[in-house]
Amino acid sequence: MAALRVRRADFMMTLAYATDLATGHSRDFALRSCVLAMRMADAAHLDEPTRRAIYHQALLRYIGCNADSHLLAAAWGDEIALRRELQGLDFGDRAEFAAVFVRAITRLFAGASPEELAEAVKRGLAEAPQVNIPVLSGHCEVAQRIAERLGLPPELRESLGQIYERWDGKGLPHGLSGEAVKFPVRLVTLAQDAIALTEAHGFEKMTVLLAKRAGGAYEAELVDRFLAGAEQLMAGLDGPVDRAAILALEPAPHATLDEGDCEEAFLAIADFIDMRMPFTFGHSRAVAALADAAATRLGLPQEDIRAVRWAAYAHDLGELTVPVATWMRAAALTERETDAARLHPYHGERALAGVGGDGKLVAALVQRHHEQLDGTGYYRNARGPDLSPAARVLAAAETFQTAREARPHRPACSDVAAAARLRAAVRQGQLCGDAVEAVLACAGQPARRAAPERLAGLTPREIEVLRLIAAGDTTKEAARKLDIAIKTADNHIQSLYSKIGVTTRAGAALFALERGLVRHEIATA
Ligand SMILES: [Fe+2]
Repeated sequence: MAALRVRRADFMMTLAYATDLATGHSRDFALRSCVLAMRMADAAHLDEPTRRAIYHQALLRYIGCNADSHLLAAAWGDEIALRRELQGLDFGDRAEFAAVFVRAITRLFAGASPEELAEAVKRGLAEAPQVNIPVLSGHCEVAQRIAERLGLPPELRESLGQIYERWDGKGLPHGLSGEAVKFPVRLVTLAQDAIALTEAHGFEKMTVLLAKRAGGAYEAELVDRFLAGAEQLMAGLDGPVDRAAILALEPAPHATLDEGDCEEAFLAIADFIDMRMPFTFGHSRAVAALADAAATRLGLPQEDIRAVRWAAYAHDLGELTVPVATWMRAAALTERETDAARLHPYHGERALAGVGGDGKLVAALVQRHHEQLDGTGYYRNARGPDLSPAARVLAAAETFQTAREARPHRPACSDVAAAARLRAAVRQGQLCGDAVEAVLACAGQPARRAAPERLAGLTPREIEVLRLIAAGDTTKEAARKLDIAIKTADNHIQSLYSKIGVTTRAGAALFALERGLVRHEIATA
């Protein structure tokens, strides 16, 4: 397997995409704020360490925001709507701040009598600090730990511990003020508010609001410098941002991750997703363990096993677009909520699509994790021929693990009941029999059939060779990708041809197609 090395900034953009969804921000909000913050840094001729700290802070400010979302949802209902209303708000303006929470309580108590609503508002506002302060402090701590697991510099730890602090000391969680608030925090907060306020009120009003808050939420000198060149600094920041532009903005040296670092980064993403709600704690790790074991049992190539494990870690990343309040409700979802929920594989795929190395394959598997062989899955209604062995294993592992976890609308199934459910799905033509039996065997369930023969009777290495040849690689190209001599590659190819009974590349390609051994995900993602 070729050595893997990807840019850490790719993972940071994946997390930025996810946190934009979870916090109700607009498309590419974190990326646009990164461009603006780096322009401000350039205009001020800041040194490289400060520029690097600003770059990280802009992309990762909200990576802890997923923690304890269920507590916010329990108190305020739709937490994404609440966060959307909090964007660009002057937290020091108590009346404005309280008005947002009153609106949240009004949404939560829709249909209640005026007396009940008045009581709920009174109670909610009185209890707000007890709810919000621990949750926001938790966001800081989780952000710091995730940053550490991504291998980010220790200076970022301190900045992520101050994401809600303000110049005038009226911020959270510690009420720091002035220069006790780190410079990257002060600059990025201003940049992000400039973008949020422009979206909400337009450019002119944004400049008025920032000027009004100078010396309050923000350092006056920083506001003055920003306003002096605001038009130029904000130019072109009203639309999506090219990922390549963000990669180019990263101060040198560009950080890269090897395979072990990527494993840890995907694990961090798994925990980031799962800690949003108590009933999903550990879900992604458990799906990954099952999928990895089942893929190994089926004899998939190492590259596929790794991709399916990483896809399992990240499969529900797109769920962040749906409010926790929706997932936590025991009652049936509305049609609109169902539509939004069924699109989570799409958002997961979008978030991961830019990750280099195996990222595209991982993203394609994430996109397919709820698809079924008969086209009854979601969101693309893909069918069997579009679902590779790895995709089938992921779907089976996810279905089994989810069935044995409790959800607000149902209790957990026993392993035996979950196994029966999966086998019924095989009979109905929805899940792949081989994938299901492999998952169940790895979960300790008695086998119903002998261990399946290796895929088409081929070894993982033979499948790798076959895929390269089927995809049109020459012997020389295959040798390079497999990191072996051309002569050795030629020997592999000839012995493969004789094993599968073909004599040409086209014959081998057709063999691969007929047996579902081509990674369709790559071609159709
Ligand atoms: Fe899912």
